[in-house]
Amino acid sequence: MLAAAAAVYTGGAGGGIAARELAVGTRLRAVGVPVGLVAAAFTQAELRHRAAAKFACAEEMFFTRAGLEQASSQAAAEHRAARFAGRHRLADLCTGIGGDALALAPGREILLVDRDPVHLRMAALNVAVHGAHRVDTLLADVRDADLTDYDGVFVDPARRTGDRRLASRASEPPLPWCFALADRVAAVAVKAAPGLATDQVPPGWEIEFVADGRDLKEAVLFSPALATTERRATVLHPAPLSSSVPLSSSALPGGRPVSLVGIPDPAECGGKVAAPGQFLYDPSPAVTRAGLVGELARRLGAWQIDPMIAFLSSDEPVASPFARLLRISASLPFDVRRLVGELRGRRIGSLEIRRRGLAGDVEELRRRLLPRRRDLVAGGPAITLVMTRLRDEPWAFLCTPVADNRVAGLVSDARPLPCPSVNG
Ligand SMILES: C[S@@+](CC[C@H](N)C(=O)[O-])C[C@H]1O[C@@H](n2cnc3c(N)ncnc32)[C@H](O)[C@@H]1O
Repeated sequence: MLAAAAAVYTGGAGGGIAARELAVGTRLRAVGVPVGLVAAAFTQAELRHRAAAKFACAEEMFFTRAGLEQASSQAAAEHRAARFAGRHRLADLCTGIGGDALALAPGREILLVDRDPVHLRMAALNVAVHGAHRVDTLLADVRDADLTDYDGVFVDPARRTGDRRLASRASEPPLPWCFALADRVAAVAVKAAPGLATDQVPPGWEIEFVADGRDLKEAVLFSPALATTERRATVLHPAPLSSSVPLSSSALPGGRPVSLVGIPDPAECGGKVAAPGQFLYDPSPAVTRAGLVGELARRLGAWQIDPMIAFLSSDEPVASPFARLLRISASLPFDVRRLVGELRGRRIGSLEIRRRGLAGDVEELRRRLLPRRRDLVAGGPAITLVMTRLRDEPWAFLCTPVADNRVAGLVSDARPLPCPSVNG
């Protein structure tokens, strides 16, 4: 029945999704499948279809809607599971549908703990798909789990209960409880919201900020036994990187992880400040959140254009997964009338507006710069308008994106995970 429901999304029977769902549903009900079961099969098919963006073996896994939304992507889970290398008995607390467990389990004994029975059952099934060695499950509050004899713990506390989001920075169990796990088991990793207050983190722990492309997704905190640096910015990089970079190839959805490590800048930014050169770098939010803008500048041979702003600049273009690279074609004080003239003269094909350090309504500005859609010219250049501050003055750069896959300053601990079993 699940295979029949899946055909709605694989397009096997032709027609649109709604038409296929009607045809398959009618056929299943005609042979006596209860309506509720048919509906559940369609939900599972839809969730598996969505989950393909996160998991290589999504079509064999089981999801609840909330479980999928909260689940780590396989690429992110794989990346942090590598930290537990050499540890053979792990506990995955708040296991959810097992998004993290499936990367932690292969070749190990693992204990999955969740108080939601549906999630716990799904996690066990999903981990089995990924070649688990030995899996124990515990339906309980994680506070009641006996962690004696485990040599590593991962915990991903919930940031919502049912349909309700917890207050910002709150979690269940709360972060202080998660950090205190390190008093019982030395090797602990805690997943948290990327907005976490870094002063909440105990001394000696590493903080890693993870972005998927340009979206900041999560923070992960590693106890001193697992920490290898103070701060880490990791980007799940979607594009293929240069073949000169020693990364293993991976078919994982969501890209492969690359990390920038270092000591956070004393201020939010830090590093050399000078006038803009020919190129502008817009650092990944993982880098800015980790306080590694100065570190990135050093790796790129770039400098800041203002001590308080995270844009970097250079005269040599160096493409990096940690920043968007833009070529500056005009640099001028921020003045809407002048910008309208500049844009009109360029006969642009599209306009993106990027803002750092300058207040203002971006959509309102777009309307003033481009009052009519026909002001865009088919085949014209794609322009990024950067609104920022320079020498404490509102400033604008008109830029064009630079496409280049040369990569600088790269560290990776990517490890590909195949889909070991096909259960049909
Ligand atoms: C953010 S999800 C975990 C996602 C998981 N890491 C994944 O990638 O699939 C949080 C899970 O914690 C569970 N949970 C929350 N509080 C709990 C508690 N006190 N004890 C046990 N489980 C709990 C919820 O039922 C939910 O399944």
